[in-house]
Amino acid sequence: MTETEIMDDTVEVLEVLDANEVQETTNAGPGPQILAVANQKGGVGKTTTTINLATALAAVGCKVLIVDLDPQGNASTGLGVDRAQRETSTYEVLTGLATLEQAMFRSRIPGLDIIPSTVDLSGAELELVDVENRSYRLRDAMKGFVEKYQYVLIDCPPSLGLLTLNALTAAHSVLVPLQCEFFALEGLSQLIRTIERVSVAFNPELHIEGVVLTMFDKRNNLSGQVASDVREFLGDKVYKTVIPRNVKISEAPSYGKPALLYDHECAGSRAYISLASEMLKRDRSRAA
Ligand SMILES: Nc1ncnc2c1ncn2[C@@H]1O[C@H](COP(=O)(O)OP(=O)(O)O)[C@@H](O)[C@H]1O
Ligand SMILES: [Mg+2]
Repeated sequence: MTETEIMDDTVEVLEVLDANEVQETTNAGPGPQILAVANQKGGVGKTTTTINLATALAAVGCKVLIVDLDPQGNASTGLGVDRAQRETSTYEVLTGLATLEQAMFRSRIPGLDIIPSTVDLSGAELELVDVENRSYRLRDAMKGFVEKYQYVLIDCPPSLGLLTLNALTAAHSVLVPLQCEFFALEGLSQLIRTIERVSVAFNPELHIEGVVLTMFDKRNNLSGQVASDVREFLGDKVYKTVIPRNVKISEAPSYGKPALLYDHECAGSRAYISLASEMLKRDRSRAA
């Protein structure tokens, strides 16, 4: 896909969004908002949410950085970063072999940059065990680099180990993708306890930004029941926007594209645009 085609697609995405929204968004406040996209369960939509939310935010003019902190590197692949292009990655950043500046890769979406990851990252947890400040490696590496962005989204691995801890100490808040299935609430309680512990021991400002219900199937009664339990439990921390199960969303990564560029009119893309707009509105009302 050429740069021009990408630009055309982005323009179309822009048209889907309300023009006023774009105006106000580009005037957002100082400094980045750093979000860890976390849930210790795999396959709940962390990477999909990271990629598509970031794309929607970039489409309305925000400068956005994705930090791929999962050794599987799905966010990097989903944004079309070839393995061969990942010479410097989050592994080198965490182990002090490279700076974020050196590892930064400009995605084909204007305004969206990514720090890719490789499977090397799976060794970092062990390698960092004896290293000073091992829980703050990402936070420290970010200083002086992330200020030019409005949003930084850290795509976490499916565990609560040292990598996720680095994301939680670097972040202001946690965005939790939650799949509405039987054990969802149990997993959520565990995650909340972890966030509380991290906030006491490492990062006092850490809090839950919001919970986004993913892969929602409205024909499934259990989905509906879990969704209403989660809303009862966490109230307005749960976004009104619900991401439906949508086949286009699962097809997009194999083309190295966000769903928003693969098919911006599909139900999944529309949902991510609506999530971005809900997030921007919340941020704006908080800033006011
Ligand atoms: N809304 C959705 N509809 C259909 N498939 C989805 C949706 N969200 C994610 N998927 C698919 O589910 C799988 C797991 O999603 P992913 O975002 O990789 O989860 P995680 O990062 O939490 O492991 C992927 O194959 C992805 O394409
Ligand atoms: Mg993932």
